[in-house]
Amino acid sequence: MNHVRNFLSVYDFTKDEIYDVLLRSAVLKAERGGKNACLEGKKIGMLFEKSSTRTRVSFEVGIAELGGYPIFMSSRDLQLGRGEPVKDTARVLSRYLDGAIIRTFEQERIETFARYFEKPVINGLTDLYHPAQILTDIFTVYEIKNGGADIIENLKIVYFGDANNMANSWVSLQAALGFELVLAMPEGFGIDKAVRMESEKRGGKFIISGDKISAAKNADVITTDVFISMGQDEEKEKIDKLRPFIIDDNVVKNAKDGVIFLHCLPVHRNEEVAEDVFERFSPVVFEEAENRLHVQKAVMEKIFNKNIR
Ligand code: CP
Ligand code: NVA
Repeated sequence: MNHVRNFLSVYDFTKDEIYDVLLRSAVLKAERGGKNACLEGKKIGMLFEKSSTRTRVSFEVGIAELGGYPIFMSSRDLQLGRGEPVKDTARVLSRYLDGAIIRTFEQERIETFARYFEKPVINGLTDLYHPAQILTDIFTVYEIKNGGADIIENLKIVYFGDANNMANSWVSLQAALGFELVLAMPEGFGIDKAVRMESEKRGGKFIISGDKISAAKNADVITTDVFISMGQDEEKEKIDKLRPFIIDDNVVKNAKDGVIFLHCLPVHRNEEVAEDVFERFSPVVFEEAENRLHVQKAVMEKIFNKNIR
């Protein structure tokens, strides 16, 4: 069918390309406001089947800053929301647009869209992965540590909480870049089988620990995400199981001095992170939120602009 380049997971970039994106994000951040019209004349559709603040606005602003024209579509307003198949929606939109950013449910849904859409597609979050967020997270660390592969490879990164799209994204990033990854989560919260197998195939390694304090020991980066993701039902039982994995002072004390705390936001205070811990680390978390813009511009340069690969 089509042979265009997509960014549906971290694995769509080689390790070198990921470092290119990090370097380029720093340049785009420093040069913000300068002239860059690499998407001039391009109409980029943004089809969202879930709510969004950061992803929506940072991509819209990013497209505008690169000279392109964003067209936001909520599935509620499209015939897609009334049952028109994804493959028909993709075949129609492909006639109008030059690229698309999709936020949806199953990974299969974005893959189907990408198969029928004859232009490049970027993942703006699925149930399985959030690749734009994870590149931003590692860029935020890269920026603070002022370093490249040698520094990233020697980090200990610990994720606390639910085995969701953010946990899976850390697993994929670890397989792509290689660093020590520990996932602190309750018993019975394993990583999705397909995600695990894809990581293993690429030589990825991670540890799942049920002991949050030993997991936190000497961590360079600690991170978490909401306990209940979009599209999931609020299950009291699930929240109760996750509650002990809250990032609190005890976790911070056991991590390295100068530990970096990341959160993709939105945050649920006193659920996945204690309010005082969150507020103490919030300057970095809001820098991380800003970085979505710079990193996604670097990703869009690679994916939507066939002259820069
Ligand atoms: N982190 C993130 O993707 O936020 P939004 O859901 O607001 O886009
Ligand atoms: N895991 C969360 C991330 C939100 C940015 C969700 O999917 O709702």
